Amino acid sequence: MPEIHTAVQQLEDEFGPGTYHKRNLVIVRGQGARLWDEEGKEYIDCVGGQGAANLGHQNPYVNRAIIEQSQKLINCTELFYNDQRALLLEKLAQITPPRISKFFLCNSGAEAVEGAFKFARLATGRTRIVAAMRGYHGKSFGALSATWNKEYREPFEPLVPGFSHVPFDNLEKTCDAITEETAAFVAEPVQGESGVRPGSREYFLGVQNHCRKTGSLLILDEVQTGFCRTGRMFALEHFGIEPDILCLAKSLAGGVPMGAIGMSDTVASKLFKLAHTSTFGGNPLACAAANAAIQYMQDLRLAQRAEELGREFMAELRQIQSSRIREVRGMGLIVGIELKDKAGPYIQQLMAKGVLVLGAGPTVIRYLPPLVIERDDLLRVARATAEVLP
Ligand SMILES: Cc1ncc(COP(=O)(O)O)c(C=O)c1O
Repeated sequence: MPEIHTAVQQLEDEFGPGTYHKRNLVIVRGQGARLWDEEGKEYIDCVGGQGAANLGHQNPYVNRAIIEQSQKLINCTELFYNDQRALLLEKLAQITPPRISKFFLCNSGAEAVEGAFKFARLATGRTRIVAAMRGYHGKSFGALSATWNKEYREPFEPLVPGFSHVPFDNLEKTCDAITEETAAFVAEPVQGESGVRPGSREYFLGVQNHCRKTGSLLILDEVQTGFCRTGRMFALEHFGIEPDILCLAKSLAGGVPMGAIGMSDTVASKLFKLAHTSTFGGNPLACAAANAAIQYMQDLRLAQRAEELGREFMAELRQIQSSRIREVRGMGLIVGIELKDKAGPYIQQLMAKGVLVLGAGPTVIRYLPPLVIERDDLLRVARATAEVLP
């Protein structure tokens, strides 16, 4: 079928930089876990803003907070103190492990990772970073140096020196690579972009232990797994670990752009004035949205909901009789189906059936629905998946 391009698409294609793969779909409205296109066609959203829409579209807490804060104060740089920022810093300290006690507020995942590496250098006086193969940490120069995919990295070399990669979830090789010259080891608890691959408890506990022995820092990138996605407020709770630095973003402010770098007192004690700054970081609008978002997660026990729905959804997917499925895996409501062939055509077929999903590497269909999704909608998603997989 020839693709129809509407006026909106023509404008984006003409004036956008062309750096994104775009689907033939113009989304104009959302509510909960539903999205609508220009013609009013409804979709079940399992893209979930690629992890930024954990609270669903038009979340009532977040919407109210944005409206109220916009009528008071949107901008207030960190030159001054601010009530919403103070509240958020306290809340972040309450919901993260005791070891994480200070927070630098920023605007995105890559920015959180970027700052984490700078802080690790300052805190240790070392420059080497060990990252996990297949890891994804963003595309600014520092974050890209830790990201594994060669297609993203190679056109931009030389990258930041001192980075090396070791196989994910391989304790022995990771410990061999982390030495007394290593500033930090960085990994995602569940590798999201590269195919929904959860690490094991033994791996993360072992790596943490080894980092403490060598004086290296453990940086956990919870940009995609944070804020109830895996069935806990943070995935680190599954493993019982306490990193030295914790990178957060995506759903932190209920969909409003925001990131944060959590760190231990020891790390914070090595930072100097103006070591790192950000004009928009900690702006009252994003802070108010984040305060409301965290309140909503707690009031509605969103982590528990993600755990229960994730378990049921994965059980449904595992019942699908298809010769194309290699494995169904996930944690809470970050779920992937690894296929024996390319995921792209199935993702298109799901879209035609009114279900929006993501890829994760060439052969994985990834589901990142808003955690407020209705049980019936998840059943419909599982049924549509069964219909498209031969
Ligand atoms: C684990 C992880 N880290 C970092 C990033 C980069 O975040 P951003 O796109 O906000 O820069 C992402 C984005 O997908 C991510 O999944």
